[in-house]
Amino acid sequence: MPVRLSLPGLAAPCPRTSQDGTTERPFAMPVEFLGIAATGDGSETNVRTTPAFDRDYTLRLARAHEEYGWDRVLFAYGSGSPDPAPGAAYLAAKLDTLQILLAHRPNVSYPTFAAKTFATLDRISNGRLTVHFITGGNDHEQQREGDFLTKDQRYARTREYIEIVKKIWTSHEPFDHEGEYYRFNDFVADVFPVQKPRPDVSFGGSSPAAYAAGGAEADIYCLWGEPLAQTAEQIEKVREAALAAGRTDTPRIQVAFRPVIAPTEELAWEKAHRTVDAIKARKADGPARHRRPGNGRPGAWTPENAGSQRLIEIAEAGERYDRALWTPTAAATGGGGNSNALVGTPETVAQALLDYYDLGVEILSARGYDLLDDAIDFGRYVIPIVREEVAKRDAERVAAQAAEEAERERDRQQLIAVQA
Ligand SMILES: Cc1cc2nc3c(=O)[nH]c(=O)nc-3n(C[C@H](O)[C@H](O)[C@H](O)COP(=O)(O)O)c2cc1C
Repeated sequence: MPVRLSLPGLAAPCPRTSQDGTTERPFAMPVEFLGIAATGDGSETNVRTTPAFDRDYTLRLARAHEEYGWDRVLFAYGSGSPDPAPGAAYLAAKLDTLQILLAHRPNVSYPTFAAKTFATLDRISNGRLTVHFITGGNDHEQQREGDFLTKDQRYARTREYIEIVKKIWTSHEPFDHEGEYYRFNDFVADVFPVQKPRPDVSFGGSSPAAYAAGGAEADIYCLWGEPLAQTAEQIEKVREAALAAGRTDTPRIQVAFRPVIAPTEELAWEKAHRTVDAIKARKADGPARHRRPGNGRPGAWTPENAGSQRLIEIAEAGERYDRALWTPTAAATGGGGNSNALVGTPETVAQALLDYYDLGVEILSARGYDLLDDAIDFGRYVIPIVREEVAKRDAERVAAQAAEEAERERDRQQLIAVQA
């Protein structure tokens, strides 16, 4: 965790407003990279050639992330997809340093059971687990596994669920719980996480109910990549919600993109256009259950989740934003989660990512379309540039801080001299 100081007025990125109105700014704001722990080789552009859970592919992809400088990988959750928890255990046992972000939907488990699963995984991985709590943005997808609550009810349930899981992770005394969604008596776990006080809680969503629940409970708040202005708006909403919940800190922010990189700008843009053509072709030919009404045409179909609605609106308003953000990949998927591209050379994409870092984003999530090759290329060519630039910014910040302190000390000495 970064060191945080209460230093009003110090120029640094990522100001955090605490309850007493002072601004907390980290001396150093580290950057982290999140990739994908896919268990098969399919993507929006590529027909899967492996089984849904392919042991070798899962390990090869994760190992590439570990070898090429990524910090963590996401095991996503889908109703019919392989269960991510045993997948996470498999990777944790095979790899040494890569951290795991495990997506989990509260509707598929009881919180006492889930808390033990997470604690056990944190033991297996020796403290490398973060849990991403998914509320579910789509009624139909939730109903596939028997969840018939409305979205706002689901957010209330997620909040209660996270509170219970946190308590189980940290409580060594048996306790009863009587809430809106869960009731149990005399529970205490016998397995506790390695991480103290507990593993981080990650959370995503872009509706008012999401900001309220995640602002209150999340250590990491995840957003899908949007233009800088809209991202800043959402970060503000998360911070306001955290304050409203009585927190003195705010969640770290994570933003997700689909980078399309090539050695020259021209080649990158050609690749981006080929990517959109491939997404459209695959959608048209794909199994009916993957097709959405309107087949990705803007305005033809409205997803239920606010995050996807925002992506569609942004794509309808323009194709290019800021330094390298490109929306046709999002439009072609009908506002699918994490679908906006960053297009350009590694240098351009790295600078675009640094724009988000300067906005206060600490975790950069990226996933290509050829999952393995793109994870290697991004790790080899983009991550080192971003890390180097972040290190420079940190050094400048520390130097500015030291200069400011030296000046204050000079003023103090002068005052003493005058008084004497
Ligand atoms: C970075 C990120 C990752 C997500 N991963 C998953 C996932 O693996 N499975 C899933 O069903 N939903 C996933 N979601 C969806 C959210 O957890 C949430 O259910 C949805 O965005 C809520 O919709 P809202 O925008 O209307 O609040 C993810 C969201 C974000 C931002």
